[in-house]
Amino acid sequence: MSTFRVRPAQARDCPDILRLIKELAAHGNNTDAVKITIIDLLKDGFGDHPLYYCLIAEVPDDAQLTGTLTVGFAMYYFTYDPWIGKLLYLEDFYVVEPFRGLGIGPEILRKLSQIAITSGCSCMNFLVVIWNQTSTEYYIKRGARDLSTQEGWHLFRFNKKELLKMANED
Ligand SMILES: CC(C)(COP(=O)(O)OP(=O)(O)OC[C@H]1O[C@@H](n2cnc3c(N)ncnc32)[C@H](O)[C@@H]1OP(=O)(O)O)[C@@H](O)C(=O)NCCC(=O)NCCS
Repeated sequence: MSTFRVRPAQARDCPDILRLIKELAAHGNNTDAVKITIIDLLKDGFGDHPLYYCLIAEVPDDAQLTGTLTVGFAMYYFTYDPWIGKLLYLEDFYVVEPFRGLGIGPEILRKLSQIAITSGCSCMNFLVVIWNQTSTEYYIKRGARDLSTQEGWHLFRFNKKELLKMANED
């Protein structure tokens, strides 16, 4: 196996980030749910006030113009908990199938943990869809706690329709 490298994403990585977001969505049969565009990713992640960050995993590949192929990524951002303060939220974590089981995932998690610690975060939160038993086991094996079963949290959302309704209430 060729060596891989995990590095912070740059603006030029946005097309690959979108490709991997779509692949991960397809993994859950949710391809049509991806509405975001390369322009959104550029604007939201690489301006003066980034709303997200990414780590990119790449391997050497002479067939690519850049000489590398992007084979995995993690999207994360910082958020705040009124009880414990700053925390790192892991939004997407994905390695393409032919490159799984080679240590890329653990290297991404190692780098994320370093970022969390050096940024003063006390934990890293993330969601796992209920049917993704493989991922659940993957995280639990590495010491993650399932807050839904242990603490009873439910994830809620107001969609734009409800937001508009509330925004326009007198
Ligand atoms: C979760 C994921 C990012 C881990 O990345 P990775 O680079 O494969 O991580 P690892 O190298 O630690 O390997 C993961 C496990 O799969 C096993 N594995 C070995 N070969 C494998 C292969 N060809 N394909 C899949 N898994 C393989 C590894 O042995 C390891 O097992 P372990 O948990 O008992 O240690 C990756 O499996 C993935 O992208 N999964 C699909 C997307 C997903 O579910 N993401 C998480 C959403 S919450």
